[in-house]
Amino acid sequence: MIDEVKKHLVTVEAFQADTHEAVEAFRISYAGKKGILNALFAAFREVAPAEKKEYGQLLNSLKQAVADKVKTLQSQTSQGTQTGTIADPFRPAFPLEIGSRHPLSLVRNRIIDIFSQVGFSISEGPEIEDDWHNFTALNLPEYHPARDMQDTFFIQTDPDILLRTHTSSVQVRYMENNTPPIRTLSPGRVFRNEAISARAHCIFHQIEGLYIDEKVSFADLKQMLLYFTKSLFGKSKIRLRPSYFPFTEPSAEVDIYWGLETETDYRITKGTGWLEIMGCGMVDPNVLSNCGIDSEKYSGYAFGMGIERIAMLLYQIGDIRMFFENDVRFLKQFKGSL
Ligand code: PHE
Repeated sequence: MIDEVKKHLVTVEAFQADTHEAVEAFRISYAGKKGILNALFAAFREVAPAEKKEYGQLLNSLKQAVADKVKTLQSQTSQGTQTGTIADPFRPAFPLEIGSRHPLSLVRNRIIDIFSQVGFSISEGPEIEDDWHNFTALNLPEYHPARDMQDTFFIQTDPDILLRTHTSSVQVRYMENNTPPIRTLSPGRVFRNEAISARAHCIFHQIEGLYIDEKVSFADLKQMLLYFTKSLFGKSKIRLRPSYFPFTEPSAEVDIYWGLETETDYRITKGTGWLEIMGCGMVDPNVLSNCGIDSEKYSGYAFGMGIERIAMLLYQIGDIRMFFENDVRFLKQFKGSL
């Protein structure tokens, strides 16, 4: 026992270190809660009575030696740091793991980029809307059957206050407060009273676009759609299927030709090769006049798409719920994409 303490005394006297971390490790190994000193003190009980005195004295000097050593080394290393003789200014910094953007933000930002390049600006509006901006101004008067196309969460009735079912409401606000030419893009969160499944969610995100000027025609819309699908998907074969929206006339659903090269292509296009990506149309003149724009002089087009849907296509994600669960293993995969 006594020999062991003596050995430690020699080790402590001889110890040298030139970094703060090494001194700290030394201090912990001796003076820490589970350190050597405490173990040796605990062993005092087992020392033979005749040796107790010498053991105790040696142990006390060991304790003192540790304290002295730590003190001198600490002052040396901290001096070193201050004068710059030991700290290495060229040592690489500790690597920090950088997070990644949410896939929905990546896709939204990419779409915004594409449209900003041709002069669209961004407009945002409230998620809690009134009946006028979400429905009536968009050519959906009360009792209009098309209101059922979008199951609505009402917050209050009479007057109706609701969670917006699309970001077309933002475009109504924009038209009310601006004069043509108008080129605006409205990204945002929308709400519909739908059961949550792999393909539908009651909260999702849209980007809608609006272009109003003199002599805007359907040909302009088609050209814009081509530019967009080429930029985002790298595919330039699209088709327009006649459709119906109360706020546009004529209206169309846009499909892109995705291809039928892989098994996945077959699955997601249901064997047709075509995928629906958005709705669009020429703004109904009623909507323009509702928003204070001269519908004789101006015309325009509008389009709208679900960001989740686009992201699911781009990243081949099979379940919309993934976007809302925030599982880090899922989110990490999008680092550096887009
Ligand atoms: N507002 C429509 C929707 O939410 C999308 C759309 C916008 C369609 C503009 C046509 C023109 O379903």
